[in-house]
Amino acid sequence: MDNTEIIRLLNAAFVHEIENSLTYVRNSFVMWDCDPSRVTEAIAVDEMRHMWWLADLITKRGGEPIMEHRALEFGGRDLKSQLERQIVLETEAIDIYKHIINVAGDPEVVGVAQHILDEERRHRKEFKERLARI
Ligand SMILES: [Fe+2]
Ligand SMILES: [Fe+2]
Repeated sequence: MDNTEIIRLLNAAFVHEIENSLTYVRNSFVMWDCDPSRVTEAIAVDEMRHMWWLADLITKRGGEPIMEHRALEFGGRDLKSQLERQIVLETEAIDIYKHIINVAGDPEVVGVAQHILDEERRHRKEFKERLARI
C-alpha cells in the first residue's frame, strides 16, 4: 500500500477517534449513574490517546491530521441507548483497525493498530458489561 493510501486510512481512523472521544465526553456529562459515567469518561481519554498515536503516524509520513468529523450521534436520552450507541462506535472502531492491520503492510502502523484494537475490544466489553446491568 502506498504512503498516500496509508495516510488516508490513518486519517479515517483519526476522525473516528474524534467522534468517539467527543461522544463519550458528552455522554459522561449526562449519565446519572456514577459507574457508567466514570467508565465512559475514562474511555474518552483512551480515545484521545489513540488520536495522539495516529496523528504521530500521520505526520511522520508527511500527512496532516484531518479534524472534520461527521455529525455526532449520542444515542437517546436514556443510559441504555447511550451505551448501545457506544457499543456500535466501538464495533466500528474494531472493524477500522482490523482492516488497517490486514492491508497497511507497514510494520509500525500495524503494531500501533494492533495495540489500539486490543483497547477497543476492552472498551466494548466494558460498555457491554454496563448495559447488561441495566
Ligand atoms: Fe480509539
Ligand atoms: Fe474505544
